[in-house]
Amino acid sequence: MTDQTPISREERVEKLKGVGSERKRVEDARFTQGKGNYVDDIKLPGMLFGDFVRSPYAHARVVSINKDAALKVPGVLAVLTAADLAPLGLHWMPTLAGDKQMVLADGKVLFQGQEVAFVVATDRYAAADGIEAVEVEYEELPVVVDPFKALAPDAPVLREDLEGKMTGAHGPRKHHNHIFTWEQGDQAATEAVIASADVVAEEMVYYHRTHPCPLEPCGCVASMDKVNGKLTLWGTFQAPHAIRTVVSLISGIEEHNIRVISPDIGGGFGNKVGAYSGYVCSVVASIVTGKPVKWIEDRMDNLMTTAFARDYWMKGRIAATKEGKITGLWCHVTADHGGFDACADPTKFPAGFFNICTGSYDIPVAYLAVDGVYTNKAPGGVAYRCSFRVTEAAYFIERMIEILAIELNMDAAELRRINFIRKEQFPYHSALGWEYDSGDYHTAWEKALKAVDYEGLRKEQAQRVADFKAGKTRKLLGIGLTHFTEIVGAGPVKNCDILGLGMFDSCEIRIHPTGSAIARLGTISQGQGHATTFAQILASEIGLPADSITVEEGDTDTAPYGLGTYGSRSTPVAGAATAMAGRKIRAKAQMIAAWLLEVHDNDLEWDVDRFVVKGAPERFKTMKEIAFAAYNQAIPGLEPGLEAVSYYDPPNMTYPFGAYICVMEIDVDTGVHEIRQFYALDDCGTRINPMIIEGQVHGGLTEALAIAMGQEIAYDELGNCKTGTLMDFFVPTAWETPHYTTDHTTTPSPHHPIGAKGVGESPNVGGVPAFSNAVHDAFRAFGLRQSHMPHDHWRIWKIANGLGLHG
Ligand code: CDP
Repeated sequence: MTDQTPISREERVEKLKGVGSERKRVEDARFTQGKGNYVDDIKLPGMLFGDFVRSPYAHARVVSINKDAALKVPGVLAVLTAADLAPLGLHWMPTLAGDKQMVLADGKVLFQGQEVAFVVATDRYAAADGIEAVEVEYEELPVVVDPFKALAPDAPVLREDLEGKMTGAHGPRKHHNHIFTWEQGDQAATEAVIASADVVAEEMVYYHRTHPCPLEPCGCVASMDKVNGKLTLWGTFQAPHAIRTVVSLISGIEEHNIRVISPDIGGGFGNKVGAYSGYVCSVVASIVTGKPVKWIEDRMDNLMTTAFARDYWMKGRIAATKEGKITGLWCHVTADHGGFDACADPTKFPAGFFNICTGSYDIPVAYLAVDGVYTNKAPGGVAYRCSFRVTEAAYFIERMIEILAIELNMDAAELRRINFIRKEQFPYHSALGWEYDSGDYHTAWEKALKAVDYEGLRKEQAQRVADFKAGKTRKLLGIGLTHFTEIVGAGPVKNCDILGLGMFDSCEIRIHPTGSAIARLGTISQGQGHATTFAQILASEIGLPADSITVEEGDTDTAPYGLGTYGSRSTPVAGAATAMAGRKIRAKAQMIAAWLLEVHDNDLEWDVDRFVVKGAPERFKTMKEIAFAAYNQAIPGLEPGLEAVSYYDPPNMTYPFGAYICVMEIDVDTGVHEIRQFYALDDCGTRINPMIIEGQVHGGLTEALAIAMGQEIAYDELGNCKTGTLMDFFVPTAWETPHYTTDHTTTPSPHHPIGAKGVGESPNVGGVPAFSNAVHDAFRAFGLRQSHMPHDHWRIWKIANGLGLHG
């Protein structure tokens, strides 16, 4: 088989659609034609439907559960309660944070919407009727929704199962509703710096409770094949292999008898990382009935009960010289975890990577303490389009910088400029323990300021303030600045595990004889376009066109073990595994080419899609030719075939960064805001697919807009969730979404095989402070220091009113 068509080098590069190419998303053919295969699309013969009786109370004792009437409802086959699961040891399940959580209410409920009983029926309508017929008697208990009140000496005991246990998964507990204290940095040195500083800015910064809102809520289909002893579980899983291991450990079914499949799952954003009662109950119901059982949340279930995000009360002190050089940072966080600690964080990091809160700044000394607290709210604490509490950290430091600028009476862009970590300081060791891999913050910052004409904007703003004071306008102008540094790509395994599972990732490549290939990975795309971009990495590594490479993820029977997709870890970890597996293919291909060309391996050099004899460019073998030979020629000393697998344990995380500027007009009388301009410069190292990156940035910024400007999970004092429907929970439409200008610089990661860093979470991490800072900045001239998000119209109106701007 030969492939000797003369074609220029540029054309060969073009044909590959490798790294850097704006290759169109291969996934979109099915998504745009309604041909996606989501979990709720799965329909199996004889499939049953299970759904939950949920608690109307946030804190109550469950006095009795009467199933009799429900079992008489036509179509209802079974009603499971904690008493039914207890003999199997399945009435509680481990959480990702080392706590345990009730699968079904065991004696009491701890949050509104908690799962009390699981009704199994022939279809979802019969299940709904059955749910209505289950009689549950509750005895209400005092409710605590405020984490500070939860720590009062006389606060009600929420977790009676932990009473008397003064040590938890993350060390000592100080109070019956306290979960852990996590400390980083040097407390004594930081407090000494603050005590003697020229200037100290102090503030409480609250990042409110919110919730990812994926297109498809959580759900699964469990199918137990009793004849072969095999359990197949389709579900909305962001980490299918981890789910397989956990299901095996909980159920006792051997891991080779469990197959977990994540089909198209309609977005994850952290919501689909954890383990939910629905998964356990569906598996039990399938084992009991011998039939497949489906459980799919509705939108209210999703918003009210599955994993929330944020809810961090962050008290900060930042010290500086009169000239604005930051000398120290102190932070204490009160973290509201709800009824169970179900945070999705690596084991050694109970507050995730919040200790990236020194941000982009060279801060010589810092101290951080986080206290986790139980309240009567839904559990969770997931990385909603963020890498393990990084968005909370970025919000904290970017607000503190703005407040310090007010304290110093200094321009906030200049304050950032004089405190950035300088290019020559990388790799940079932060005061709170990280090694930033690479960065060039000043270049990005100057580019951003120039792009928006920052000086011009400040002049316009000053004129606007003057006009406002003179009664000529009722609109203010806010300039929201942010420079963020992210930390994404967990592992390394030595630092990062979840429930003891090391956070490496993997890629297995099989080259077919005719020069096409299949690559399987331990990650799972939830819409990020992995099938498009991982093929691009391979195309550049092995010289086969991306269009000839199928990428498959999400089936534990076929994909190599990996820890899944969240926190922008796919590119830094599985993307690296892909490149490394590609290099193994190329190494074997080089030996084959040498044999075919009758030269020594070292006489060959790689050129786009072929090995060429050094000094004799007319003598070469293309990868396509090599693939055919790998299977069909007997090559002495080499096994037939061309396959490779790489399990990649990253040496460090990657540190993408960005400079965002939001220009916002605010109507003082109505609180209505208009985003006049949003400029987003991202640096994610080597860019695999600029078009996909731009899409990721647009999506992430829109979620940031939602969070900053309206989206929240709010409770009344009885623990009733006030925002459990899309009537109350803000999800932006095209109407609210502004135009974004995207830009980039490229500072490759020195340790990633192709220099790439993650990007998917960056726009959320940087977007929220940019929007929020714009609101604060608009009112800075009138004395505003700090105000809590979300900045909906009513709250903005209240800021203006509080500042006396309504006359
Ligand atoms: O883990 P997750 O897929 O959520 O995030 P990611 O690794 O940041 O990747 C999001 C998407 O952007 C993927 O399709 C990546 O391949 C793509 N990407 C890219 O084209 N270039 C980068 N340097 C980083 C990500």
